[in-house]
Amino acid sequence: MSVISQTVEPFDLVIFGGTGDLAVRKLLPAMFHRFVDGQIPASSRILGIAREALDDDGYRALLRESLRDAGEASQLDVFLQHVGYRPLDARKSDGWADFADLMARHPDHVRVFYLSTSPELFVDICARLGDLGLNKGASRVVLEKPIGRDLASANEINDAVGRVFDESQTYRIDHYLGKETVQNLLALRFGNALFEPLWNAGHIDHVQITVAETLGVGHRGAYYDRAGALRDMLQNHMLQLLCMVAMEPPASLAPDAVRDEKLKVLRSLTPIDDSNAAQLTVRGQYRAGVAEGASVPGYPDELGDTRSGTETFVALKAEIANWRWSGVPFYLRTGKRLPERVSEIVVVFKAVPHSIFDPSNGPLEQNRLVLRLQPDEGVKLWLTIKHPGPGGLRLRHVPLDMTFAEAFGVQQRDAYERLLLDVVRGNPTLFMRRDEVEAAWRWADPILAAWAAAGDSPRPYAAGSWGPSAAVALIERDGRTWHEDNE
Ligand code: BG6
Repeated sequence: MSVISQTVEPFDLVIFGGTGDLAVRKLLPAMFHRFVDGQIPASSRILGIAREALDDDGYRALLRESLRDAGEASQLDVFLQHVGYRPLDARKSDGWADFADLMARHPDHVRVFYLSTSPELFVDICARLGDLGLNKGASRVVLEKPIGRDLASANEINDAVGRVFDESQTYRIDHYLGKETVQNLLALRFGNALFEPLWNAGHIDHVQITVAETLGVGHRGAYYDRAGALRDMLQNHMLQLLCMVAMEPPASLAPDAVRDEKLKVLRSLTPIDDSNAAQLTVRGQYRAGVAEGASVPGYPDELGDTRSGTETFVALKAEIANWRWSGVPFYLRTGKRLPERVSEIVVVFKAVPHSIFDPSNGPLEQNRLVLRLQPDEGVKLWLTIKHPGPGGLRLRHVPLDMTFAEAFGVQQRDAYERLLLDVVRGNPTLFMRRDEVEAAWRWADPILAAWAAAGDSPRPYAAGSWGPSAAVALIERDGRTWHEDNE
C-alpha cells in the first residue's frame, strides 16, 4: 500500500539538546524518514544546538551513524544539507545574536523550538528566545518530559515557559500519543458503532495496561534514579493511554475537544494516598538476572549505588469515579528488565450472563480486545467459536487478528515522525495541555508521598521476570489474571 504524506509549510526545527540521545536516536531519524517520503519542503532547516564545540560538518558526521539505516546513502547526503549546528549555552550570551540572525534569514518559516534538554534549562532557553523576539509569529515550543517531578515543579516550569510562549504555542510531547495504535483507539472507538454501546461498566469487567521493557536503565541512571517508574512512565504515558480508553466521545477531533475529555478522566481518578497505597500499588526494583538470554546486573549495581530506593517497576489498580467506569478497575503495570518488550491495552469484557454449554464443551472465556502498541502494532479481538470440523461441539477462544504491518504492508513508523510534523502543522490534539499535566501530577503526588511516608524499599525482582510476586497478587486478589497471549 502506498504511503500518503501531506505536505507541510517550510519550517525551521531547532533542537536544543541536539547531541543528546533523543535527538540523535529518535528526532533526526524521524525527520530523515519524513524527508525520504518527500514531506520536508526544500528550504526547511533543522538545527542542532548544544554546548559541544561542533560545526555543521562535525554534527552531520555525528548523525551519520544513527541515520545510516534509515534511508539510502544518496538520500542521506541530500537530507544532511538541511541540517546544521550551532554551539550555544543557555546560561551564556555568546552566539545567541548570530543564532537570531540565522533565524531571521527565513522570517516566513514556521519555527519549532524543541527543548530536549534537562528541564532546568527550559526556563533559560525560553527567556533567551523571548529576548530575541523568537517567540513571535508562527513560533512553537516543544517540551519533552519530564515536565517537573511533582505538581509544584511542573507549575514552575509551565509558568516560566508561559511568560514567553502562549499555551497555544506550547506543545508538551508524550510520544505514546503518536503511536499508531493509540490513534487507532480513536478510530476503533468512534469510527465503529460496535464498541461504544459496550464501552462501560455494564459490559466491561476491567482494563489492563502493560508497558514492559527488557532494557535496564543503562547510562540513564543519573536521570532515572531521580525519577523512577511512576514519574518516568506512569504519570505520563500510561495515564494518557488510560485517558484514551476511558474518555467520553469528544464532539470532534478539535484539539480542545479531545483534551477536555481526557482532562475529565484525570480529574475523576480515585485518589491513592497513604490510606490505600499499600493495597493498591506495588513497587519493585530489579536485581541480577537474565534478560534476552544474557546475564545482567541488578539496578543497584548498574547505578553504582546499593542504597537507591528508586522503583524500576510499578503496578497499581486505578479506578475512575464516574458513571461510565464505576467499579471497573484499570490495572496498570510497567517496568524495566521484564521478560519481553510489549506494550498493550487489554479491555476484558464481562462473562456471558448464563452458559448454555456443557462443561465438556470447554471453558467459556471472556471476550478481550487487545490493542498492541509494540512490538507488532495491531488489534486482536478474542472471541469464542466452535472448533471447526467433527469431534462434537468444542469451544475455542481465538483472536480475530489484525497486525497492521501484515494487514496493510506498511512499515511501522516512529511516533516522533507524526508528532514533529503535527507541531509544524500547528495541530496540538496529540499533545498535553497544561491542565492535563497538572491533573496527572495531582493524582501521582499523593502516591509518591505515601511511598515516601511508608519508608519501605521497593520489592526486589529478578531481571527477566514479570516483577515482584505482589504484582501478580494485586490482580489475582480480585479473581483476575494479567493477560498472556498464549495463542
Ligand atoms: C521514555 C522513558 O519516555 O519512554 C524511557 O523515559 C522509556 O524510560 C521510553 O524507555 C519507552 O518508550 P518506547 O517508545 O520505547 O516504549
